[in-house]
This record gives sequence, structure tokens and C-alpha cells, in this order.
Amino acid sequence: MTSLMMASKRRLVLSTLLICAIIFELAYCQRDARKQRTTPGRKPKPSKPKLVKSANKGPRAATAKAKTTATPAAPAQTSLTQVLKRGKFKKVGETISVLTGDTLELRCRGKPIQWSIPPYLEEDDDGRLKIVQHERYGLLTLVNTTGADTGEYTCYPMYCEDTDCRKEYDRAVKVFVFFPDPRELFVPSSEYYEVIQLRTNWPTVLPCQVTSPEAKVTLHREFPPLEVEVDGTDISFNVKKGFTIHRPRPYHAGALYCVASLGNLRQSSTKYMLIYVHYPMTRPAPVIQASLSSLAVGENLHVSCSAVGEPGVAVEFTWEYPGQQIGRPLYTQESISPVGGGASQQQARSVLLVDEVRDVDQGTYTCTAQNLQGVASVSTTVKVVPKAKPRKP
Ligand SMILES: *[C@@H]1O[C@H](CO)[C@@H](O)[C@H](O)[C@H]1NC(C)=O
Repeated sequence: MTSLMMASKRRLVLSTLLICAIIFELAYCQRDARKQRTTPGRKPKPSKPKLVKSANKGPRAATAKAKTTATPAAPAQTSLTQVLKRGKFKKVGETISVLTGDTLELRCRGKPIQWSIPPYLEEDDDGRLKIVQHERYGLLTLVNTTGADTGEYTCYPMYCEDTDCRKEYDRAVKVFVFFPDPRELFVPSSEYYEVIQLRTNWPTVLPCQVTSPEAKVTLHREFPPLEVEVDGTDISFNVKKGFTIHRPRPYHAGALYCVASLGNLRQSSTKYMLIYVHYPMTRPAPVIQASLSSLAVGENLHVSCSAVGEPGVAVEFTWEYPGQQIGRPLYTQESISPVGGGASQQQARSVLLVDEVRDVDQGTYTCTAQNLQGVASVSTTVKVVPKAKPRKP
């Protein structure tokens, strides 16, 4: 008896210790992650001289790991440099410019390294891009460059355990590379025009990307022809992204385009067809109600499903009902009506009509309401009893 108690007590202590260890690990890891996040990967500070050896497998890996966990606040800075002519190196800032036609060479310390490049380059590999992993760094080389190569180039150091590697996102270093092209001020687009949805309360980007950071860019409306005011609040410009409409309104819709000018050159971008879509704030919250929860064979049943929401927002209803499997042909009636004074809201409603119920109509009725923001379902059950009972008047 005592020994049994002792044993269970020991087990309890053990498991408590174990749980503590796990909690401690978690807390430690979280703190670790937080600290790493506060040291952003962007704009790396000048890093210490070559201290970090590439993490090799085997016993040395263990020591390297132990070292990094011992000083979680100071992860090795990722270093991204541009290889210039005559073997010179230059630490990259947030952006760099490489003349069209020249070679871009980026060197990122670490092993292994993974790169992310502008999507167009990833899709359209014409042999101009070369990525090589050296003992201590990864090297990205892009030759015969054009303005179209303009975009973000990111280096991700990889953290590996045996063959299992993952990107270390918080140690990634990005650089935005411009390839100023004396003939093309805009990064060419394969489309003559682009259709862009303007959603309520959802920032919209007009991605007219320039190849040179020096180009002056303005925004224009096609009809009536006018320059759109860019105040930095409602609409702002970012040389790495294009224009952003922060709070789209119906009047922003229409055909817009960007104009870039540099020196004697003045060019227009692709056209953007902006279509305004009224996005609801939330998904619908439907309410279901059956005209009767229990009824006799032969009686009529109505099941109503309604959702109150913003006016002008379409709600689509779909039904699931017991007679569905056997192909019972039911029908629905849909309507929309204003709610409250001033009609600040509307009620969308779908009524499922079951004429002369049968035994097969007993069961669960489910209504699903959907708008652009999401879906929600509600159910109710209906019982069908034999006709034997005399009908109520
Ligand atoms: C780069 O351009 C040169 C000269 O036009 C050409 O000979 C070479 O094949 C090109 N290299 C690649 C990889 O496209």
C-alpha cells in the first residue's frame, strides 16, 4: 500500500517535472522568438567579422546549436552584399539600382541559403539566372538584365536538422532592386489592361512599378481625364509598390493609369479597370424558423431563414432537407426588405415551402447563408405525425 502510494507520488512528481520542462521550453522558445523578431532582418547592422561557421552535420552541429541557444538575443546577422566589378563588395541597403544590361550579383552569407525572386523571373527562366551555394554563402547571378527584373530579392538562411530544413523568416534579408531602363520607365506588363476589385475597407494596390527610383509618378483617370490627387492618406505612392487606395469608395471606380516621367521621357502604364465591390463587414448570421415543429401528414410546412445585414449586400441561401435524397421537389421564395427607420439595414429571407408533408419530410432542415465575407448555417428539426388525429380547424 505504502509502496504503491510512493510509486504514484513519484510518478506525479516526475510528470510535474516533465510538464514544467515542457512549459519552460515553450516559454523560453516564445521569448526567444520575440527577441528575434525585435531584431529585424531588414537593414542589417554591420555584422561581426566571420564568426559564424556554416552549420555542419555531426558533433560540431551540436556545439553550434548550444551556442545559439545560449545567446538567443543575438542571432547571427544575415549579411547580404552586392558583388561589384573588380571583386568589390557592397552591403545592400533597402534598395539598389543596377543599370539595365548589367549583371546583378548578390551574395548572402550562410549555408544553405534560399532565395525568393520576382515572380516573373521564377516563371520565365530563360537561363539568365544562376543560383549557386558555396561553402559559406549563396550566390545569385542575373545577367543581361532588363527593367522587367525590377523587384524584391530576398535571402533566407535555412535552419537544418539533418535533412529537414526550414526558412528562418526572421533572419531573412530583402533588397529591392531597380533596373533603370532608359527606354522603359514602367516594368512591362503582359496585359493591356488589368481588372482590379475595389473592396470596401480593403486597401487596393495599383501595381504600376517603375524601373527607376528617380521617376516621378502621377495617377490619372481616363474619363473624365484628370490627374488624381495623391494626398498620402487616402491614396499614397510607394516607389516599390505603386499606388495604394487605402479606403476604397464607389467613386474610386473606373479606368485609371499611372504616368511616369524622367528627363525627357514621359510614359503611361497599363490601364487599371477598378471595379467597386461592396464587401460586407461580417458574414451573415441567419435565423431559422419552421411554421410548426410538429405537424401531421398532409399539412403544409414553411421553413423561413433570414439574415439581417448591411443594405446592398447580397446574401445567397441554400437549403438541405430530409426529402432531398429522394428528390422531393420543394421550392423557395426569396425576398429582401428594409429593417428599422431610415433603412440602415436590410433583411434577406428565404422561405422553403413544403406542400402536404409526408413521412419523408421529417428531420433536420438546414439553411446556409452566404455573402462575400463568409458563410453560416442554422438548422431546425421538424416532426411529422400520422394523419389519424383530427385536424384542427
Ligand atoms: C547575354 O547577352 C549576350 C550578348 O547579347 C549573349 O551573347 C549571351 O548569350 C546572353 N546570355 C544569356 C545567359 O542570356
